[in-house]
Amino acid sequence: MSGVPAHERSSVKGIVLAAGTGSRLYPATRSVSKQLLPVYDKPMLYYPLSVLMLAGIREILVICTPEDLPLYQRLLGDGSMWGLEFSYVCQTSPRGLADAFVLGADHVGDDDVALILGDNIFHGHAFSELVREEARNIDGCVLFGYPVRDPQRFGIGVTDERGRLVSLEEKPRNPASNRAITGLYFYDSSVVEVAREIKPSARGELEITDVNRVYLDRGKARLVDLGRGFAWLDTGTCDSLLQAGHYVAALEHRQGVRIACLEEIALRMGFIDADACFDLGVQLGKSGYGRYIQEIAVEFGALTAGHTPAPVPDAVVGVL
Ligand code: DAU
Repeated sequence: MSGVPAHERSSVKGIVLAAGTGSRLYPATRSVSKQLLPVYDKPMLYYPLSVLMLAGIREILVICTPEDLPLYQRLLGDGSMWGLEFSYVCQTSPRGLADAFVLGADHVGDDDVALILGDNIFHGHAFSELVREEARNIDGCVLFGYPVRDPQRFGIGVTDERGRLVSLEEKPRNPASNRAITGLYFYDSSVVEVAREIKPSARGELEITDVNRVYLDRGKARLVDLGRGFAWLDTGTCDSLLQAGHYVAALEHRQGVRIACLEEIALRMGFIDADACFDLGVQLGKSGYGRYIQEIAVEFGALTAGHTPAPVPDAVVGVL
């Protein structure tokens, strides 16, 4: 593995959790992991990966089922094409989100860690700055809240009049707030010990909410509210998955930019140079996505080595 050079490593490791059965989307997910399904023009997993990259995180553990491992490895490789370093661990049964830290203990080591669920899509103004800032200042745990109409489906957080987090509940029948806790979490390295200590819930899972409650009891859990105008998209049902795809398509067509384009992010973050980025675009050349990458790379000064830069990508000229 080529790896990220020592001086460019972040003190925050990343984990993307992409196991689970995806049974709510059967039969679409009978033979392929949910997080590999496309959300408009790219695999779902690209969206959470883009969040970790925007936070400056380059060493990322991918947790998937043993059956799906070859597919993830085919898609992502060792990460070096994006200037990242991927490692993989298999989760043999869905033991709960907190199992990510038990499985990922060696990966976390003495570092801080960001966990993101492989089916969570975030999009909004200044989100990159927000996650970068939060990743720099991890003291305990940082959770991100988002108002929803159906809080019974999520972990929820209740705050006092000063906006401080006072309680957390997992999928409450009678929610005391409509603020869902989203699937992006930052922790200090003690999360591994915390996760090892908690017991499975009534439904038999190691609940992330129980981990978060330990931090809350220690006075070390902070909630960051994702404001209005921000999008946290659901991919849990066929309808919400389709809506997420429409959302991405609408923005990409309207603005002529791509959301969660990993090659572009790698370039803008300085993980790869323009020539390497252009080559990646050439490899994907027949798709609008590939042509978009080539264009961006040329803007950044890529030498096109005999390749004619692509015509205007279809995201720009297309109409909805
Ligand atoms: O999306 C945010 C919500 O995610 C939080 O508000 C909840 O507190 C949290 O428990 C979780 O709720 P979900 O009901 O969405 O969790 P679900 O079991 O659907 O798992 C989320 C993703 O994680 C899913 O794509 C599958 C994957 N997963 C899940 C489990 C339980 C794993 O990879 N391994 C697992 O063991």
